[in-house]
Amino acid sequence: MAREFHTVGVVGLGTMGSGIAEVFARTGLTVIGVEADAAGVTRARAHLDRSTTRAVARGKLGAAEQAALLGRISCGTSLAALADCDLVVEAVPEDLPLKAEILGALDRICPPATVLASNTSALSVTEIAAHTSRPGKVVGTHFFNPAPVLKLVEVVRTVMTEPDVVTDVVAFLEKLGKAPVVIGDRAGFIANALLFGYLNHAVRMVESRYATREDLDAAMRLGCGYPMGPLALLDLIGLDTAHQILDTMYHQSRDRLHAPAPLLKQMITAGLLGRKSGRGFYTYAGPDSPEVV
Ligand code: 3HC
Repeated sequence: MAREFHTVGVVGLGTMGSGIAEVFARTGLTVIGVEADAAGVTRARAHLDRSTTRAVARGKLGAAEQAALLGRISCGTSLAALADCDLVVEAVPEDLPLKAEILGALDRICPPATVLASNTSALSVTEIAAHTSRPGKVVGTHFFNPAPVLKLVEVVRTVMTEPDVVTDVVAFLEKLGKAPVVIGDRAGFIANALLFGYLNHAVRMVESRYATREDLDAAMRLGCGYPMGPLALLDLIGLDTAHQILDTMYHQSRDRLHAPAPLLKQMITAGLLGRKSGRGFYTYAGPDSPEVV
């Protein structure tokens, strides 16, 4: 029988981490969220409020359920609060030393049976796991943005991950209504390895003034049936995150397809990070708003 995870933790409550916390809390689980500082906690609370309010507006959640869901997520700044968790997912920025440090700390704080999962998009789960004394209990759980809406979770097993841990995590994710796929540890896994070459190519097309952003996005929405065009999607993902993912894949494969388009770096330097900063390829009504102005 699959092991049950009752108390779950999430470290890093940015776009992905707070989305993952919402997914867990939606099924009645108690969630302990940890952010780096008080400002991060405030941002996470605001993100959770906005996302669940959107779910209520879309008829996916009742108002009373929203209050109960938010009540099940505690947010703080101390990793020690995770000492009783059965499962902890880290969703901090895509920075290997940072992830390694967090996993090492969790390894010291949590009991030996606690499963440690990384939401990395492109970094090596094997390398992250090597910073713990329990690499058999470490997996990748790669969620997709927006996590409360998209069903896919890539479950990444390393050569060290215990088979039972993979089975238990898959069963757990299925109970949450997710559709897990199990894969090995290679930069970009399945979806990002296929998606980011396409996104990068779209940036190069705008950069060379081959097509306007509106025409590019319309072509993929209206011609290919994608829910969003590539530039709107990059704004949703965050240009800094996209750059990190491309860079990691490029360094692993040396495939030019993944060499980040220079325009991406320029926009990041200028603070145009996408929806989260209020402006990327498009300008939004405010930070984190989906509404283009
Ligand atoms: N909670 C629950 N459900 C919600 C919701 C929420 N907060 N917000 C929207 N929904 C539901 C809606 O009810 C609707 O469901 P239905 O079809 O059953 O009625 C569905 O989601 C779509 O919502 P809307 O019709 O309101 O459309 P939106 O325009 O608001 O949808 C979107 C936005 C879901 C983001 C859609 O455009 C989309 O899927 N875009 C593509 C996103 C994508 O490709 N993400 C992957 C990025 S790559 C990644 O994450 C990897 C990482 O490593 C970078």
